[in-house]
Amino acid sequence: MLWKTHDCGTITREQIGETVVLNGWVQRRRDLGGVLFVDLRDRSGIVQIVFSEAFSQASLDIADRIRNEYVIAIEGHVVLRDPDTVNPALATGHIEVRVTTIHVLNPSKNPPFFIEDGLDIEEAVRLKYRYLDLRRPEMQQTLMLRAKVAQICRRYFDDLGFIEVETPILTKSTPEGARDYLVPSRVQPGHFFALPQSPQLFKQLLMVAGLERYYQIARCFRDEDLRADRQPEFTQIDIETSFISKEKLLLWVEQLIISLFGTCAGVTVQAPFQRLTYAEAMGTYGSDKPDLRFGLPLIDVTDLMQGAQIQVFQNVLRHGGIIKALLAPGCATWSRKEFDDLIAFAGRHGGKGLAYLVIQEDGWKGPLVKFLTAEQQQALATRMDAKVGDVILLSADQPAVVHNVLGHVRLHLGKRLQLIDEQAYAFAWVVDFPMFSWDTETKRWVSEHHPFTRPLEEDVSSLKSDPAKVRAQAYDLVLNGYEIGGGSMRIYERPLQETVFELLGMSAAHAHEQFGFLLDAFDYGTPPHGGIALGFDRLVMLLAKRTHLRDTIAFPKTASASDLLCGAPAPVEPKQLQALSVQLIAPTPADGLTPTVATSKEG
Ligand code: AMO
Ligand code: AMP
Repeated sequence: MLWKTHDCGTITREQIGETVVLNGWVQRRRDLGGVLFVDLRDRSGIVQIVFSEAFSQASLDIADRIRNEYVIAIEGHVVLRDPDTVNPALATGHIEVRVTTIHVLNPSKNPPFFIEDGLDIEEAVRLKYRYLDLRRPEMQQTLMLRAKVAQICRRYFDDLGFIEVETPILTKSTPEGARDYLVPSRVQPGHFFALPQSPQLFKQLLMVAGLERYYQIARCFRDEDLRADRQPEFTQIDIETSFISKEKLLLWVEQLIISLFGTCAGVTVQAPFQRLTYAEAMGTYGSDKPDLRFGLPLIDVTDLMQGAQIQVFQNVLRHGGIIKALLAPGCATWSRKEFDDLIAFAGRHGGKGLAYLVIQEDGWKGPLVKFLTAEQQQALATRMDAKVGDVILLSADQPAVVHNVLGHVRLHLGKRLQLIDEQAYAFAWVVDFPMFSWDTETKRWVSEHHPFTRPLEEDVSSLKSDPAKVRAQAYDLVLNGYEIGGGSMRIYERPLQETVFELLGMSAAHAHEQFGFLLDAFDYGTPPHGGIALGFDRLVMLLAKRTHLRDTIAFPKTASASDLLCGAPAPVEPKQLQALSVQLIAPTPADGLTPTVATSKEG
């Protein structure tokens, strides 16, 4: 066997005259009749190797049979290329290796796609042949970046005296808001483990245990609707500390981010990060994870529209609604269809309408203009800083609807009008989230973060009287419109925790059954503590400038939470189910699921 003395991508003019052994994959071959050029690839890059009868007839004969993705070993001499064949785009572009010996270590079938960056093929094919997809340089670079980020985080927290602790994967349900993945117990029929949605309870117990500073690069499992930035199985950089102020914690996270982005992306990140309260973020950007790479704030014009005789607006105002506006700069030339499309877009986000006022040289245009006096137009233009050529968009409804609609329209315009600086990294902390939100479906309060989040001290007295008003000591880290982290200071007193469970509609018995172990632990001298979890996959995605989480995970799941490579999930043998005391029931049409149960191995 010939084992490599060098990596393909590292051979330069320095090695000229040396004999080298290389191992790798055939990227591409060009047969020029009597001379064969092969691009040989390994993890480090590509080098050109040359076969000719002048160097070795035997090698040329073997090389004749090699094809793309064959694994080969060669020995040869490094020489300078002819000036007219130099490829300056390649790190190894000035040299080539003249082959004297070749071994085919393993042949390859013709792969279903060519191994190169910027692939434009179906995602399903990439995932099915993930081992080939991962051969592509951009995928390898992303995985290397991921490993580097993990290393930096470990070193960073280790230096600060954090202790890495692993927490169970087979555990009890944690209330992070998604559905649990369940694992049936064989030895205790009818009992189930849940896979952790996060290590939340364990990290708090580690604080009770006196560890003081914990971190873990932790796998989390959530059965929820998937999107480009959500995987059912994902990783968090999870931390928890005792005896620390929120300010210090946020500072540590900022310093980690500065180090990560400096080292991994060559980006200088400014600290301290901008801070927005939840109310400001929602009110100004219509989102709790605002993309701050561009402006276009939502502007309240309720007062200016009070007097306008517009029936929809008057209706909304009578019912305690608001009217907010968004400037669409330079959009006065849009066609009627373009406005109709935008209104339809607003409709998909819950808007009952979207009014538009087009400011043209010869006056204002749009369906509602006739209801506005010259003074009202002037006042609107001034508030919006609008000029000829611009459009003012108005949404009237309850605040939550207006913010949601205009928040989405804002993002849409940001992209469409190319207002987003793609080179920018706009970090912000969103703080003072509400503790609870009202779930209209189940008609009860639910935690905005999770039930262990501590209320702002000044709001504790309103817990029972006015839960909607209570703000939480919670913080989300936002980058370019993504939530890349979330955490909070925690409740550490049993009575307060019990009050919060009660507000969430949990009976004392239910709270005890579900979280008795945590409440009991709180009886034994629990230190004040707090923490955060950063979305590791999302961080890597943004560092690597990718738009899909799948591209940062070696073996990800599809949008329907399946693994196309292994073919999971899959039916199991009836006797396996029997051993687990599990019986299958076909889903009803109301579940909206395909009855794969019928295709189980039972037949
Ligand atoms: P949270 O639920 O906000 O907090 O999660 C923390 C961060 O994890 C990332 N994240 C995800 N990434 C990929 N796919 C998903 N499905 C997914 N869900 C969440 C996000 C998010 O900001 N235990 C608390 C943390 C704490 O309070 O300390 C928690 O899990 O980037
Ligand atoms: P309508 O009376 O429903 O035909 O609406 C008249 C105009 O008001 C149209 O341009 C609608 O898009 C707009 N409109 C309707 N409802 C709203 C709303 N809730 N907010 C803003 N504009 C609206």
